Amino acid sequence: MIRFITDSEEKKKISRSVLEALTDWFEVVESREQYIRESADQPFWAAVIDDVPAGFLCLKETGPETVELAVMGVLKEHHREGLGRRLFAAAKDYAAAQGYSFIQVKTVRTGMYEDYDRTNDFYKSLGFKELEVIECIWGEDNPCQIYVMSLKSAIGTISVRHSYRGKFAPDPVPEEDLRTIAAAGIAAPSGCNKQTTDIVVVNDPAVLDSIKSMIDPPVAQTAPAMIVVLTRRINAYRDRCFAVQDYSAAIENMLLAIVELGYQSCWYEGHITDEDRCDKIASILGIPDEYDVVCILPVGKALDDFHAPGKKTFSERVRFNRF
Ligand SMILES: Cc1cc2nc3c(=O)[nH]c(=O)nc-3n(C[C@H](O)[C@H](O)[C@H](O)COP(=O)(O)O)c2cc1C
Repeated sequence: MIRFITDSEEKKKISRSVLEALTDWFEVVESREQYIRESADQPFWAAVIDDVPAGFLCLKETGPETVELAVMGVLKEHHREGLGRRLFAAAKDYAAAQGYSFIQVKTVRTGMYEDYDRTNDFYKSLGFKELEVIECIWGEDNPCQIYVMSLKSAIGTISVRHSYRGKFAPDPVPEEDLRTIAAAGIAAPSGCNKQTTDIVVVNDPAVLDSIKSMIDPPVAQTAPAMIVVLTRRINAYRDRCFAVQDYSAAIENMLLAIVELGYQSCWYEGHITDEDRCDKIASILGIPDEYDVVCILPVGKALDDFHAPGKKTFSERVRFNRF
């Protein structure tokens, strides 16, 4: 189980217990002690098995756009159990949600020591790209390989998007960001390019309150902005209407844009479809009869943690060439 640790003393205790067992990587006492000291103030995740820490990871901000994977370690007896990957996934989710654009990590370049070769392979398998090797950081014997990963590539954003149902910070969302999100929505493909999806962006507090009162059970009550998604049942050809597919593509584009800009959201459709709620929202917003309200997407900065839902594995859902 991966736990986000907030208590400074607990962080130091966990980092000490792991790093002192990994002297092949953390041999120099002074730098080990520095990692332990610094971990106390850093975002920190522990991999815990039967209440015993088996690994940890912490992040350090290295600039307004970048965080560094400051240090991570997994006890040797728990290597190859996927703990490093799960620690990294939690940290990456966090860094993306905080709005960072890049994550970097440093290690000793491949070709120097076997243990570090494995570390390089591990970082590459996570998706890190080689940025630069610099010798003057740790000396000629330990050339420093800097890896970097964009947190804002389409594939990166897809992997960190999750439905967020927690509280939002009250800060208004800048109109420019709302425009970017809406533009991502209308850029989506649509059957026969019929462009059946329209969008109403809501950031006026009074209008927001009216819409929120229509959501039952209440969700997104603290959202400082919302995207209301509309559809028109226009046939693409003959009697084929792709309006549902069209608005689904638009919604996914907007969810990704929302996450990439450092906000969170959730596809709220089930919450508004019962008891004429969509019609009531349409009437609040003065929407013409030929459009249907289908979904709302809250937009705001997350205040709570979010939980990635359990999903089936890749091989349970994806096959090559034959089912
Ligand atoms: C068509 C559709 C309708 C949805 N309606 C709701 C909803 O009304 N309320 C809600 O909490 N989540 C809703 N969701 C979000 C799903 O519950 C969520 O996508 C799913 O649990 C997977 O989690 P993930 O988005 O974190 O991957 C909806 C998703 C889709 C695609």
